[in-house]
Amino acid sequence: MSVHVETKRMTTALIRQKKAAGDKITMLTSYDYTLARLVDQAGVDMFLVGDSASNVVCGNQYTLPITVDEMIFLTKGVVRAAEHALVVIDMPFGSYQISEEQAVANAIRMMKESGADAVKLEGGEEILPAIRHMIQAGVPVCGHLGLTPQSVNQFGGYGLRAKEDAEAAKLLHDAQLLDQAGCFAIVLEKIPAALAEKVTKAVSCPTIGIGAGNKTDGQVLVLHDMLGLNQGFKPKFLRHFANLGEQVQTAVADYVTAVQDGSFPNENECY
Ligand code: KIV
Repeated sequence: MSVHVETKRMTTALIRQKKAAGDKITMLTSYDYTLARLVDQAGVDMFLVGDSASNVVCGNQYTLPITVDEMIFLTKGVVRAAEHALVVIDMPFGSYQISEEQAVANAIRMMKESGADAVKLEGGEEILPAIRHMIQAGVPVCGHLGLTPQSVNQFGGYGLRAKEDAEAAKLLHDAQLLDQAGCFAIVLEKIPAALAEKVTKAVSCPTIGIGAGNKTDGQVLVLHDMLGLNQGFKPKFLRHFANLGEQVQTAVADYVTAVQDGSFPNENECY
């Protein structure tokens, strides 16, 4: 006997329907239970447990060092917080490039152990066989084209991608291949807005932009960046929707002063 449990969680099918209905899709990165709970309650459609955790959580310069085990550990907390939003886990560098078998095995392990709803991986035609195998195995896949930070050493930096016609044409072709392979969404990072619009019109799956203009089907930002927790990072595409960095520093400085001058804890804060 099968048991059918109704879930209020967002699904990849609902994400696709949003494109068809012309409703914008919202995605934010998250890496821990406490912030993820607030993000979920505020109504975001999708979490991305991005490999940007390598920078944001671990303090590495690049995304490359983070491991499958570390991504699973972080994602478990986000999954526990997700009552509404779909959880996408990033496959880290080295976990899907070696062979299709390794890619599928890692994708399945990451889904099983973290509880995520889908995986994301960077690249186009060169990783298409791995993507096809994952989708055949029942793993929902989100693509990622344009600036793909795992290739920073090949690109030589984090500049705008696909400015030139040849790279733009390859990106459009890659997006169509990912769409035909069955990706439920494609992240487009740091490419000209006009190209992102062209790709969005050319594919049936939703496009989620970051630094790709406002004609994509949705937007994604790194949570810590948009909350202003990382004040040193302010690329043109980023909007600070809050200034929590300053608020955290003020709160901590106030705490230090209150402890030092003996005003914390006061009589109401004692048993
Ligand atoms: O890892 C990440 O945070 C990402 C987003 C920038 C799209 O891939």
